[in-house]
Amino acid sequence: MEPNASSGFTEAFHGRKLVVQPQFERKIEMARAAASLTESTVETREQKDFSKSRSLRPIAHRLIPGGSHTYAKGDDQYPEQAPGFIVKGKGCHVWDLDGNEYIEYGMGLRAVTLGHAYDPVIEAAYREMRLGTNFSRPAKIEVHLAEAILEVIDGADMVKFAKNGSDVTTAAVKLARAYTGRDLVAICGDHPFFSVDDWFIGTTEVNAGVPEAISRMTLKFRYNDLDSVQRLFDQYPGQIACVVLEPETTELPARGFLSGLKELCEARGAVLFFDETITGFRWDLAGAQRFHGVIPHLSAFGKAMGNGFAIAALAGKREIMQMGGLEHGRPRVFLLSTTYGAETHALGASLEIIRIYREQSVVAFLWKQGERLRTLVNRSIVENHLEGFFELSGRPCNLIFVTRDQEQVRSQPFRTLFMQELIRRGVIGPSFVVSFSHTDEDIDRTAEAAHESLYIYRRALDEGIDKYLEGRPVRPVYRKFNS
Ligand SMILES: Cc1ncc(COP(=O)(O)O)c(C=O)c1O
Repeated sequence: MEPNASSGFTEAFHGRKLVVQPQFERKIEMARAAASLTESTVETREQKDFSKSRSLRPIAHRLIPGGSHTYAKGDDQYPEQAPGFIVKGKGCHVWDLDGNEYIEYGMGLRAVTLGHAYDPVIEAAYREMRLGTNFSRPAKIEVHLAEAILEVIDGADMVKFAKNGSDVTTAAVKLARAYTGRDLVAICGDHPFFSVDDWFIGTTEVNAGVPEAISRMTLKFRYNDLDSVQRLFDQYPGQIACVVLEPETTELPARGFLSGLKELCEARGAVLFFDETITGFRWDLAGAQRFHGVIPHLSAFGKAMGNGFAIAALAGKREIMQMGGLEHGRPRVFLLSTTYGAETHALGASLEIIRIYREQSVVAFLWKQGERLRTLVNRSIVENHLEGFFELSGRPCNLIFVTRDQEQVRSQPFRTLFMQELIRRGVIGPSFVVSFSHTDEDIDRTAEAAHESLYIYRRALDEGIDKYLEGRPVRPVYRKFNS
């Protein structure tokens, strides 16, 4: 695969109108023709065999609370007719326990941006493993990756590595509290997730086990609403340590919002923290901060920087970051000191990933393939008369879908139905987030599966979803009770 960023694509990359190249347009037409439907082709699709997955599932739930180690991978997030367990992946393809093969999207919760079992990354990790993964003193490669990351992230002077995004976002909050001497944290209430830790989880429905005193220290503002931030600063003068948000999710930042936030934070003595766990290595190698030209005081990276290996980074201004160091006179901050924080193989993988991103314009490719899929699926939406009921949302490099019922209200049952029909056609799609391994052929096959699934969606709208949905719908992760 040799991705090439066309000039047309480059425009999309900078957030302006996409110019589709004629050659790309022709390929889309061919894929459309392949996806044209007859009732019989759609309705005779057999359900896949999930018998082995079904046998393992009760054992998993008996041994592991929730049956998995991430709620987003859990059974309640997938249709009943879904693969229960994956046994291997290569590129963007995965195989389940029953031997069914799928094209996968949103791989590893958006961590795997190059592809599963991506050879150069595995080899880089393996080279380090053979030299030893963890010593009594720092490994040389810690400095090499720090240099590489700081070369990438604009305006960051220092970086500290950890194993996951939650740890680095929590570290940012702690550092901001120590730096400002304030306790309160203002988070964007429209953004879904920042950390497994109490300062964030305490603000969700799943707050059992979190003392109320902790939850009360986290305040919420609205995305694209500078006044809502200003109001918090006015209501809690001199008490807010930091403003925490993803620079962008599916809603684009209004002109001046991000820069306005930075000005406001600086005027009120608070730290601006961007959680780039998803946007980093995706909007741009250097994250959405580079894309939008607004550099926060602290930022967190994770997911894509390891292509599935456990590595995350907290990066930022020296004045703040050095409070976790040995060369200052202020009270020391216990900043990210963990046994496995700098396992050499994950650092080796990350160095190689940065090299590949640079040499092969990975980010441009992610945007291009996402745009290809969006163009195709948008046509299917029109052809199946689903405008207002099914919609693709977000940047091409981070496409999600929104499902609505007959009343055009957001619908989990219709989300479940769409995922069920995709799976039946060989696509695992909790989102349409692409990777560097999604070839044109994978995208076109997915578009075909989506086209047929949307045909069923239309029929379910017209005839009732119960006729088509097999089993219970998916449930939101943030809910108080299971039943
Ligand atoms: C925006 C954001 N921040 C932080 C995290 C936490 O990352 P991790 O799962 O590596 O702890 C996630 C995970 O999904 C995330 O999406």
